[in-house]
Amino acid sequence: MIQIILLPLICLYFKLLTYSKYVCMKLLDKYNQQLPRYTSFPAHPHWNGSPTTVQWMNQLQETSRENNNLEIYIHIPYCESLCRFCACNKKITKNKEISKIYIDALLKEWKHYTDQNLDFQTTGIHLGGGTPTFLSPGELDLLFTELSKTMKFAPKFKGSIEIDPRVTVPGHLEVFEKHNFNHISLGIQDFDLAVQENISRIQPLELVADLVSKIRSRDGIFLNFDLIHGLPGQTPETIRDTFDKVIDLGPDTIAYYSYARVPWKSKAQSLLEKLKIPTGEEKKELFDIGKQALLANGFKELGFDHFAKPESELYKSKQSGTLKRNFMGYTVSNAEMLIGLGCSSISYSGLGYVQNEKNPDTYMEQIQKGEMPFITGHTHSELDIEIYKNIQELMCNGRSDLTETLSKMSTNLSGTVLAELNDMKTDGILDINNGVVEVKEIGIPYVRNICKALDYNLKDKKTPKNQFSSTI
Ligand SMILES: C[S@@+](CC[C@H](N)C(=O)[O-])C[C@H]1O[C@@H](n2cnc3c(N)ncnc32)[C@H](O)[C@@H]1O
Ligand code: SF4
Repeated sequence: MIQIILLPLICLYFKLLTYSKYVCMKLLDKYNQQLPRYTSFPAHPHWNGSPTTVQWMNQLQETSRENNNLEIYIHIPYCESLCRFCACNKKITKNKEISKIYIDALLKEWKHYTDQNLDFQTTGIHLGGGTPTFLSPGELDLLFTELSKTMKFAPKFKGSIEIDPRVTVPGHLEVFEKHNFNHISLGIQDFDLAVQENISRIQPLELVADLVSKIRSRDGIFLNFDLIHGLPGQTPETIRDTFDKVIDLGPDTIAYYSYARVPWKSKAQSLLEKLKIPTGEEKKELFDIGKQALLANGFKELGFDHFAKPESELYKSKQSGTLKRNFMGYTVSNAEMLIGLGCSSISYSGLGYVQNEKNPDTYMEQIQKGEMPFITGHTHSELDIEIYKNIQELMCNGRSDLTETLSKMSTNLSGTVLAELNDMKTDGILDINNGVVEVKEIGIPYVRNICKALDYNLKDKKTPKNQFSSTI
């Protein structure tokens, strides 16, 4: 009797399972496109040109009158060895003498800003790269000490730094503590030895575990791990194993990036192209395995590629609807302005962007000549400011009111935007009512596609191939 009742239920369960798998594959087929990452709006290829130094300083003056909170990003481009997957702006060198010259350039660049008598208070400094721990503890100490002489720190100042466990020594941790750099992000990528060999980054678990225990022996440290899915050699089994190890090590947040496959830009990635690289459905499965492991172990989803412990400041900020995302990742900072120091760094004035020269040698030459090393930039229109606000809200809080943005668009453009969003509503990845878009759970991986609907630069034109990485 029980069998007669249960059988149809079991059949229904499997039918639903098959149907939901079918829906997921249809979405993947349709939305796995090469698109901007929308860490800026407009996306980098659509910027309208660099402002002059005077125009740039005026933009900073104007914004600082309303909100004088400032974030600083410092790019250290050097690494001792090359990881084949890497898409960052880096220079591989063993020449440690270069650090002193580079620090000198960073301090000279900062002086251009302090000479303007701008009224800032620094809410955070983030060091990224390349590898910030390419600099010795003494060199980092010198850099932080010199910067702090001309800086007014906000009471809740946050120092954060990306470190490579292979080139981090106990002396670095002492310098971080001395200068309040207690947000530490470790480049992990993957723990499987075969994957590590494929990407040319051998980093044994013991080495990471030893560093993590040294970091955790200090009070008040906030620890992030960077991991990547879609690397050659990764399988569901290796990813499960990597996540078991990651969870045992107990980071506070995890960035679980999609492998950005851009061999036309990062030449070393061409070496990986000869190997079997998980794509599409396989890659999505690797992501889902990691995500489920994290959710089952108490992490919460922060955004489409970030996870955090519920007690973390970042997750609390998400719950209160105040979470933001900038070039460095998710943040609780409400600073309107970002000054990027060092080669390739991007600055944001609240009214637009500038980017520094990418080549470290050319950057240093320009600074030594007393010039600002800007190579490109963008000055926002009113519409850009509104769209950027929407993109921030969609990426961080999964919801945004488009009314203001739509009213600033031509009838033609707003009609196209609404048609695209309604198509996505039919596909079930979002809801839209009275101009308010809400991203559905199943739509989170496709938030870049939802942002693209607002991107007037990508209308009526075919996006050139090989400009952006894939959504999945
Ligand atoms: C500047 S590195 C981190 C610090 C240090 N250089 C290291 O590798 O440990 C920043 C992070 O970017 C991520 N990354 C680099 N290239 C990537 C790519 N092609 N796709 C996805 N993530 C990438 C990695 O997770 C890496 O940890
Ligand atoms: S992943 Fe980090 S260490 Fe490796 S090349 Fe890129 S920036 Fe350098």
